[in-house]
Amino acid sequence: MSIKLPKGTRDFFPPEQRIQNHIFDTWRQACIKFGYEEYEGPIFEHLELYTDKSGDEIVQQLYYFRDKGKRELSLRPEMTPTLARMVNLKGAALRKPLRWFSIPRLFRYERAQKGRLREFFQLNLDIIGSDSIYAEADLISAIVSMLNDFGLKADDFVIGISSRELLATWFAEIGIADPDKVYPVLDRRAKVSPEVFRDNLNELELNAEQVQLLDDFMLCTSLTEIEKLTQKEASQKALADLKQLFAVLEKAGIAESIQLDLSIVRGLAYYTGIVFEVFDCKRSMRAVAGGGRYDSLTQRLGGSKVPCVGFGMGDVVLADLLEERGLLPSPQAEIDVWLVSFGNDMEKIFSIAAKVRKMGLSCSHILSPTRVGKQLESANIAGARAVIFVDGDRAPEGAFEYKIMETGKQSADSLANIVKEIK
Ligand code: HAM
Repeated sequence: MSIKLPKGTRDFFPPEQRIQNHIFDTWRQACIKFGYEEYEGPIFEHLELYTDKSGDEIVQQLYYFRDKGKRELSLRPEMTPTLARMVNLKGAALRKPLRWFSIPRLFRYERAQKGRLREFFQLNLDIIGSDSIYAEADLISAIVSMLNDFGLKADDFVIGISSRELLATWFAEIGIADPDKVYPVLDRRAKVSPEVFRDNLNELELNAEQVQLLDDFMLCTSLTEIEKLTQKEASQKALADLKQLFAVLEKAGIAESIQLDLSIVRGLAYYTGIVFEVFDCKRSMRAVAGGGRYDSLTQRLGGSKVPCVGFGMGDVVLADLLEERGLLPSPQAEIDVWLVSFGNDMEKIFSIAAKVRKMGLSCSHILSPTRVGKQLESANIAGARAVIFVDGDRAPEGAFEYKIMETGKQSADSLANIVKEIK
């Protein structure tokens, strides 16, 4: 019996890997453009890094195991706890604020569904050690810039912004005692039917008036509406932060891409301030990205308090969105030069190949004697931009016959000139 691919995982054959590399390259370039530095961590961590720090939903989805030394370990379901652990490890030796990014491979035991897999990649961008609202502004500007780099326009996506801090003050105002239990239920609001949502709230023993007041709050579409609803002093700071954030993002020229969306809560337990999620404009797909401010995670993991804010953008929904908009590159292979030999002269092939590569071009060729027709076929499959004939008899001494595939131009010249033309 043949062994199947594990559910929720993917094989990346070269055409798929080329597309994956395009996503990673675009992500990486965008981060570098904003001055973020790359970091990495282990793919598994001590189980306790996740239990009760990440929130119930993620804990239920952990892939965990006991190793031969009887240690309880878990494959990483997200990068944020690793990042907080690393920040605690170096403490004051790290000169803050830090702007860091990473592209980890993550694992979550999710119900298989469109846009959600059990193994996926997620770009993480985080700012560590800044409590300024301009850190949120930097991250949100980076999201818009990178989605533009992929070819997405303002009317392809929207970034919904809310505030856990504002929500917390509203909870206090309407007498909800245990907000941590309510966040995950509110987060699932759009994913379940209105009846299930109400049932979930009732299970938390909220009374009908509180449920109604929560609804009123989440349906507010402007800061003015919220200001009318909540009159308490406590909400003023959160409201002022939101105002400042919207004002600076407007000045950065991205007002079209952002929206106040109080229905965004985020499922993870550690968020303390601004939270945001990125969706396709039709909201027909799961979130492309999500993040927010988490000012107490390092402290909860035993370190000192370091204000942090960041987001994660998965590769799965992003690739679906790019595909839908026709923005994925061709999966066709590419190489600069394919060498062809009429006489199957392998020694000549290897000697010329070495020269071409030294001159800075990629180059490949047959590995065993093959008809010229077949060699040219292989050149096409490899996506060669040019073919150089290593032993054609129509080229003068010291020169080579060659063909530029795109134009069909055939000529003969010195290797140096051919390479210059292809470059
Ligand atoms: P998250 O909302 O759990 O946040 O994930 C962020 C993004 O990762 C999602 O919007 C989605 O694109 C992608 N994603 C999540 N789960 C899956 C899955 N099973 N399959 C495919 N893609 C998925 C976090 O993970 C936070 N740690 C982000 C963060 C960084 N917050 C602060 N810094």
